[in-house]
Amino acid sequence: MDLMEKIISLSKRRGFIFQSSEIYGGVEALWDYGPLGSLLKNNIKEEWIKRFVQSYDSVVLIDGTVLMHPNVWKASGHLEHFTDPLVECKNCHSRFRVDHMADGRFAGQGKAKTKNQCPQCGGKDFTSAKQFNLMFKTFLGPVEDEAHITYLRPETAQSMFTNFKQVQEAMRLKIPFGIAQIGRCFRNEITTGNFTFRTREFDIAEIEYFVKPGEDEKWFDFWVDEWERFFLDLGLKKENLRRYEHPKEALSHYSKRTIDIEYKFPFGWSELAGIANRTNFDLSQHSKMSSKDLSYFDEETSKSYTPYVIEPTLGIERLLLALLVDAYQEIKGGRTTTTKAAKEVEVVLKLDKKIAPIKMAVVPLVKNKPELVKKAKEVYEILKSHFMCQYDEVDSIGRRYRRQDEIGTPFAITIDFETLEKDDVTIRDRDTMEQERVKINDLVGVLKNQLSQNL
Ligand code: GAP
Repeated sequence: MDLMEKIISLSKRRGFIFQSSEIYGGVEALWDYGPLGSLLKNNIKEEWIKRFVQSYDSVVLIDGTVLMHPNVWKASGHLEHFTDPLVECKNCHSRFRVDHMADGRFAGQGKAKTKNQCPQCGGKDFTSAKQFNLMFKTFLGPVEDEAHITYLRPETAQSMFTNFKQVQEAMRLKIPFGIAQIGRCFRNEITTGNFTFRTREFDIAEIEYFVKPGEDEKWFDFWVDEWERFFLDLGLKKENLRRYEHPKEALSHYSKRTIDIEYKFPFGWSELAGIANRTNFDLSQHSKMSSKDLSYFDEETSKSYTPYVIEPTLGIERLLLALLVDAYQEIKGGRTTTTKAAKEVEVVLKLDKKIAPIKMAVVPLVKNKPELVKKAKEVYEILKSHFMCQYDEVDSIGRRYRRQDEIGTPFAITIDFETLEKDDVTIRDRDTMEQERVKINDLVGVLKNQLSQNL
């Protein structure tokens, strides 16, 4: 199995990610996050908010709607420009993105044997390219006519522009300041595949950082560094990240400059996140379309101007996939030689403690000694009011440790016979496998300390 297949298999087997509607055969490019996946995703979002909202005086959070006034998408240019060029095979009527045909990649069917050959039927005759809008169309209210059409948002950015003035006034913010948001976005992607990399429904975390025109280039550089530092601090390896500058002719309709931060996924270097200089494009467009003044009054100069916007953006699920790939380690022959299972391949998910879905497992050494089990359950009750933890008494202790290693649990708390005499337990570290004895009375404090050490 290649690394990607192993990640997909682990995700399903251990409850991180399942295919949506699997009992009906699944739906392409839609994935559900299971018990562990949803905790992991939440932890990533929380870290993002801590990092960019809590620790910045100049950044505030909002939570806008998915459905917005249809004019938003006219003003933003999405109706006109948010398109991919599509061709259709004249023989089997499969559709493909022209830009992906050119390098031999096709919609979820892998690579064609030769370029410009349909991977479905081998056909070589295609229609000319047509622009296909990626926004999902729907209707506001019960009448399904032109006047009631709107779209599921393809990015969260727009509600940060439409709310620019209200947020600035309500929070009495001075430029430079940012509005941040994490939210659900929808795109009717044509090229799918590569597990959760490109899906039709996903969460974007982005900031619109409003700056004085002329200071935009300085802030652009600032946010490229900040964004990359966030990924490194979440544990992504430096050698798996690189920057890619978009050539001028390939920039989005709103962008003066864009740099992607790419990750070395098992299927190749691909976009993880981006930073764009959106200039004053969006605020000017919304101001024109709504006839509302969206300028900023600078008290120092007593002049008004339309701010420029630097936008760092990232896909939460894409980041989650990169974190899984980066953390996955196999140890052939196992790390210990004491049990039969250790002869197998051991998997350790070296997720950063901050984002690990389960922080610790409470494990009695054996399950057939009632006094050990009773004590272990008491310890579990204490810990679960502070941390996301699991209780596990099934199978040998070695197997239980490995089950936790495989899902990235940083600590195992073992209750053994000494516990009954001395009222202490061992804390086993996932990465070093070292065990430290700690009094039960001190346990919560010690664990809190260890978990916050790398914040
Ligand atoms: N507001 C700017 C914007 O939306 P984007 O590059 O189109 O920029 C932002 O999207 C981020 O969302 C990307 O860097 C990527 O991480 C993620 N993303 C984009 N399309 C995606 C898809 N179909 N599935 C999963 N994540 C996606």
